[in-house]
Amino acid sequence: VAEDSHVVSIATPIRKEPVLGFSQLGSESEWRIANSSSIKNSAIESDVKLIFQNAEQSQEKQIEAIREFVKQKVDVIAIAPVVETGWEYILKEVKQAGIPVIIIDRLVDVTDPSLYVTHIGSDFYEEGRKAGKYLLDKLPKSNKPIGIVELKGTEGSTPSIARGKGFRDVISSRTDLQFLKSENADFTVAKGKEVMKKFLKETGRDIRVLYSHNDDMTFGALEAIEEYGLVPGKDIVVITVDGTRKALEKMNEGKINLVVECNPLLGPNLIQAVKEVVKGSTLPKRIVTPENVFTQVTAAGEIAARSY
Ligand code: AHR
Repeated sequence: VAEDSHVVSIATPIRKEPVLGFSQLGSESEWRIANSSSIKNSAIESDVKLIFQNAEQSQEKQIEAIREFVKQKVDVIAIAPVVETGWEYILKEVKQAGIPVIIIDRLVDVTDPSLYVTHIGSDFYEEGRKAGKYLLDKLPKSNKPIGIVELKGTEGSTPSIARGKGFRDVISSRTDLQFLKSENADFTVAKGKEVMKKFLKETGRDIRVLYSHNDDMTFGALEAIEEYGLVPGKDIVVITVDGTRKALEKMNEGKINLVVECNPLLGPNLIQAVKEVVKGSTLPKRIVTPENVFTQVTAAGEIAARSY
């Protein structure tokens, strides 16, 4: 065979953009809107093709969307689960199809940890602890009971469970701090207002503290408190979680006493994780986003820079 008859074919690898199917749990809050935008924008800025499905608070719709992603043979599936339980079966189906799963924001409660690659999101338990620590400092021990009402988020969701537990674990040593009422208000403005109105009607001026699991419920509750004739931030100590610009503004007006930050901007981390998974890299099982707390002293300086 003559030397020059050798045909060297340099195969150009066919580069296909990775496809990510993402099941978002809903659009209930300012936080969620910022979270969805962050993920969409990060995908646009990268070479990851995003298929986005909004489940409007329904686990059933999330499961349908996931099954559809499997049919479409996406490369990676990401899920922001509305509640913690009920995922084992569908995640087994996805595993059998050989598609890696990334859990973001809230957690899934499964016995087999190999059903997902990593979880990216906040430490909700720590958020609850931060809220509790603030209250211990804010209100010194009293010989009269200090009444607390709590607006919880979606029943069975990680932030609602863990924020409640973290808060209780910190304040439990103080017998003067007593829960008057605690109810789910679905992380929405309307429900927050409705439930706070009810709390005020039932326990009125005994309420000294409102611990609200997110800003949207807090906004509704602030309206209810003002309509009742009390001054939020003064008559009632208001503690909220998320840290939207609007909450920082309300804080600047003196209506909120503490904001515990929960960072919704998970898009860059998610897209990076998708690329790593597609390359076959091993990811840590847990990627926790760093978060802050804001008081009335520090809120003003944050407002201008807030993108959500
Ligand atoms: O899971 C994160 C929580 O869900 C946010 O605190 C809340 O605003 C959202 O609806």
